[in-house]
Amino acid sequence: MTIAEVRKRYLDFFKKRGHAIIPSAPIVPENDPTTLFTSSGMQPLVPYLLGQPHPLGTRLADSQMAVRTGDIEEVGDNRHLTFFEMLGNWSLGDYFKQEQLPWIFEFLTDPQEGLGFDPQKIYVTVFDGDPETGIGLDTESVEIWQRLFKAKEIDAQLVRIGTEEEGYRKGMQNGRIFSYSAKNWWSRAGVPEKMPPGEPGGPDSEVFYDFGTPHDPKWGGECHPNCDCGRFIEIGNSVFMQYIKNPDGTFGELPNRNVDFGGGLERLAATTVGTSDLYAGDVFNMPRGVLEERSGKKYEGAIRSFRIVLDHVRAAVFMIASGIRPSNTEQGYVLRRLIRRAIRETDRLGIKDAVLAEVGQGFAAAYAEQYPFVQEAGGIIRDELEREEAQFRKTLANGLRELEKMGKEIDAFMLFTTYGFPVELTEEIVTERGIALDMAAVQAKMKDHQTLSRAGAAQKFAGGLADHAEQTVKYHTAHHLLLKALQIVLGPDVHQRGSNITSERLRIDFAYGAKMTPEQIQRVEEIVNAKIAEGLPIVRTEMPKAEAEKLGAEHEFGAAYPEQVSVYSVGPLDSAFSIEFCGGPHVENTRELASIREPDDSYRKATFKIIKEEASSAGVRRIKAVLA
Ligand code: ALA
Repeated sequence: MTIAEVRKRYLDFFKKRGHAIIPSAPIVPENDPTTLFTSSGMQPLVPYLLGQPHPLGTRLADSQMAVRTGDIEEVGDNRHLTFFEMLGNWSLGDYFKQEQLPWIFEFLTDPQEGLGFDPQKIYVTVFDGDPETGIGLDTESVEIWQRLFKAKEIDAQLVRIGTEEEGYRKGMQNGRIFSYSAKNWWSRAGVPEKMPPGEPGGPDSEVFYDFGTPHDPKWGGECHPNCDCGRFIEIGNSVFMQYIKNPDGTFGELPNRNVDFGGGLERLAATTVGTSDLYAGDVFNMPRGVLEERSGKKYEGAIRSFRIVLDHVRAAVFMIASGIRPSNTEQGYVLRRLIRRAIRETDRLGIKDAVLAEVGQGFAAAYAEQYPFVQEAGGIIRDELEREEAQFRKTLANGLRELEKMGKEIDAFMLFTTYGFPVELTEEIVTERGIALDMAAVQAKMKDHQTLSRAGAAQKFAGGLADHAEQTVKYHTAHHLLLKALQIVLGPDVHQRGSNITSERLRIDFAYGAKMTPEQIQRVEEIVNAKIAEGLPIVRTEMPKAEAEKLGAEHEFGAAYPEQVSVYSVGPLDSAFSIEFCGGPHVENTRELASIREPDDSYRKATFKIIKEEASSAGVRRIKAVLA
């Protein structure tokens, strides 16, 4: 089946079972301050999983566009994708395990309404329990799966496979249902102990397809469904989202018992044609043809490079069509990184002239029906890819010229920071020429550099602010420090009356009856700079409004808050320097305020300074401050 056919079958299947079909949310989250990209189907639905009623009811299904940047390094194997679609169905306090697991099994195995997979090839996993949560083995799911397999004349034995240290090595043991602990718990943050307070999560039950390929001992002694050797591919995950992490670290029940199902569309489509190679999917045909023609090579002969180019260009096409432009911060930084990695691989394939725009047009055409916004952006996609490719090819040429000048004293770090020349490329050239290069030292320097750059990198939180530029985010955090410092110096009755932040400066209006003295201004600056130097983490916590108020969290003037709020604390919540109701985004650590990124990506030191203190209106003062 084609990708479009699988998508349609899934949505029709759930529509028939009472689900409202909702459109995919954009890949850049609209109202979610937690991530740069929508990375799962549930992300746009979090408020509804937390209990808010959804206007379309309690049964929903969709095919959600998703971007996972954590997997960029793994792209090149048969199953990791940066951009993909996730088929999803949700019960918002409606049905639960007894309906969900039979439906998924029916969808996967039924040849008329579903995908017609052979039940013999299907293996499933369930939650084994975890002392952290006090939640035990999911016996209900075990019983449901045993019943479903029995109806297909399969005797489904449960194997409690245990932890990596103790059990995985025992392997299949003739099991059909495998219980894991950490691997069968799902939340956006991962395992229970990683979840921040207010985060929903729960046990899950995954479905794997057995491609029957021989086990590769590189991945461990024995094969089992969660082994990475490639024999099994996960094709669906039903999360029983019924828990929420409490501020004290324990788990409570959500108002509703929800189901959150996610299935990788590309994986399901590949499985219908009997392959685990996602790049065999029809949407890749045209772009792959372009690469084969331009390189004179066949996909089979250079699989890794082909896959990286195809994956990265497809992701870039959707990002550009979604309004992202290559830049050095946030989403734009991820886009630039994808484009540059793709160019490096076309280089490896022997393609020396611009090619990405042509590959990109292939994707725009392949998705014309499902996502017309991509084709409508065709001209912009072509222009952006052409410009970025031309620029980076120039960077490569300049870097190469400088590298030649260095003779045997090649400075890979300098080539990167000054010319943007990729370190791994220097490494390759140096290796080819038999020149020694202390890669460990280079990597150490790069790591320091990356720590500084982190504010703009993939793990950054991006949220409610209109402008996500790195400097703006820093000013947002500085704003919290400043308000608290003002309360310390001028008294606890100082509250915010307005604010305005740009990438150049911050402005705060606050209630206070007199002009500040030079000593008071100096004292406020000292406190802020001391907190920057302390390197305090910025922690986001979700909690009931009443609880935040009890903690003395600072309100924004005139703002109305929902029952469940997000607060940011500078320092851990229980020993915070400041706590405010806030949607973010913020830096991860106050230390990031101590430096400023120059246009050439180098850094210089910065301190916090108040540049103006004046009256704004009766009883309200206005401060402008900079990090400079
Ligand atoms: N939310 C679950 C996932 O992304 C279904 O895997």
